[in-house]
Amino acid sequence: MADTETIYKTDALISEDIDAYLEQHRHKTMLRFITCGSVDDGKSTLIGRLLYDSKMIFEDQLAHLEADSRKMGTQGESIDFALLVDGLAAEREQGITIDVAYRFFATEKRKFIVADTPGHEQYTRNMVTGASTADLAVILVDARQGVLTQTRRHSYLAHLLGIRHIVLAVNKMDLVNYDQNVFDAIVADYKTFAKNIGIAAFTAIPISGLAGDNIANASAQTDWYAGPTLIEHLETVDVATNAASGHPFRLPVQWVNRPNLDFRGFSGQISAGKICVGDEIRIVPSGRNTKVQRIVTQDGDLDEATVGQSITLTFEDEIDCSRGDVIATADAPPAIADTFEATLVWMAETPLVPRRGYWLKIGTQMVSATIQPPKYQIGINTLEQLAAKTLELNAIGVCTFSTDKPIVFEPYADSKELGGFVLIDKMTNNTVAAGMINFSLRRAHNIHWQAADVNRDAHATLKDQKPLVLWFTGLSGSGKSTIANEVEKRLYALGKHTFLLDGDNVRHGLNKDLGFTDTDRIENIRRIGEVAKLMTDAGLIVLTAFISPFRTERRMVRDMLPDGEFIEIHVDTPLAVAEERDVKGLYKKARAGMLKNFTGIDSPYEAPESPEIRIDTNAMSVEQAADEIMRKIFDA
Ligand code: ADX
Repeated sequence: MADTETIYKTDALISEDIDAYLEQHRHKTMLRFITCGSVDDGKSTLIGRLLYDSKMIFEDQLAHLEADSRKMGTQGESIDFALLVDGLAAEREQGITIDVAYRFFATEKRKFIVADTPGHEQYTRNMVTGASTADLAVILVDARQGVLTQTRRHSYLAHLLGIRHIVLAVNKMDLVNYDQNVFDAIVADYKTFAKNIGIAAFTAIPISGLAGDNIANASAQTDWYAGPTLIEHLETVDVATNAASGHPFRLPVQWVNRPNLDFRGFSGQISAGKICVGDEIRIVPSGRNTKVQRIVTQDGDLDEATVGQSITLTFEDEIDCSRGDVIATADAPPAIADTFEATLVWMAETPLVPRRGYWLKIGTQMVSATIQPPKYQIGINTLEQLAAKTLELNAIGVCTFSTDKPIVFEPYADSKELGGFVLIDKMTNNTVAAGMINFSLRRAHNIHWQAADVNRDAHATLKDQKPLVLWFTGLSGSGKSTIANEVEKRLYALGKHTFLLDGDNVRHGLNKDLGFTDTDRIENIRRIGEVAKLMTDAGLIVLTAFISPFRTERRMVRDMLPDGEFIEIHVDTPLAVAEERDVKGLYKKARAGMLKNFTGIDSPYEAPESPEIRIDTNAMSVEQAADEIMRKIFDA
């Protein structure tokens, strides 16, 4: 405990023998924890108090301590407690809305990194970010309020993210006259909830962040409480036994180290197990085996290394290995799959769009993933499985998803590194969700793409043409089908092998199960994309005429095809003109409210930013448009 005496001792040591101090500091264990709870639970005050009572060492100073043993100029400063709290509160109002603030402090026994995560509902993102690397969570409850929805959500998330140590800090005890009954009732309430979500044990401490009760010093006001103070608990909780140390060896490769022709090493941080020189290893997904030649670190070569260490391995054989691969024990390698069930925490304002492609980043691997509509959402108060079509901000749900390439993975319960992932919106590049793999649904190596002898080149050569997709996009009534039809006639006249896929027609057959919600339109385009791709494999020039309102899906189809085979043609007719023409009378119906989700009226159209060709139908006739396309693409 950081009582006055130990503080003085530390100060003396810093000024007298900085090297001894640094040495002592280096061998302290480190605890990473997170504080969470509702808005007014007093987190800032508590953190201020922790820093103050533990004789805080400022971030930059600790960073210095961490970096090397360079002499440190300043001592741990003591500053006015009230000032500090004010500072934190002000900072929070301005900036922390986006980020997690990490604060460093140390006591005689341990170093700490605390992630301060604002408690407003919209900040689940911050909580998840902070929790993903934490060993312990301090769940704050206002003694006057008891357990709230946010307490439950954060506890659920902390548990879900694999935090094994939970502290229930019942704060503001001074405002309930340090009443034991209040404390006991909250603890009993929390215990029931915790048990239901699988939290077997937690430590409950009655505190006052403002008055300092049971933070560093046992409070005289709570003689009915015999447990540790918060700092005592944080100093002694056992986090040394890393569950992953007993697991088979895993090294997700971060980069390939090739300073010269004689050295080729593979660097990363060991996520599980240990490795010795001479051990038989396997590179996944390629499946090639070799042996460890050297274990190189900044401090020289090692004979063995274990979980948490950053190392560079060299191999006995020259085999391929690159960023995103995983180096594993040869006799117990991780699995590879492309279809999974996962638990998702949605963290963005824009809800999940099922069936849309997102970037999925798992460890050092990055792939494209399509999420199916949720199996269910979890009701955070009742823990019920609720039906859900999507996931909105802060929702937690279970979904299946598939990836475009097989990934190396392990269930999150076994490995945070190989089982935890984030989803990234392809258009905005925002992180929209955190996910945890529960299990894989199908092993990728059971489904091989059938490689035919008469391949796509053979088909194209026989037809004497380069396969292409002419992708017409634009509003309903813009003239896509008419122009596509005209272009097809000309291609036919030139002896080209073509096929026209048209929205109204395909929706009568292949896609008759789909309507016009965003999700259905995405699936519509995904299927058309796949069909168009198969047709190009057959050597055809494919023309498609679909509104295809979303950039992401047009991009998805572009990415499915070899470079240069996807030609985006924007049939650019202003809404007013299309509505004026109203060939099928649908705009009238939509305006009258008889047709829901009509593109341009109550469903969006995202115009292409840089299409290969843009047709201004105000400025040209159908024939002129077809001429232009023939000239630009076929030089005809
Ligand atoms: S897309 O958005 O999924 O690409 P698609 O091109 O297949 O749409 O179908 C559009 C055609 O369906 C329109 O030309 C129109 O005839 C008809 N349609 C019926 N309802 C709607 C609607 N709500 N929004 C747009 N088009 C509709």
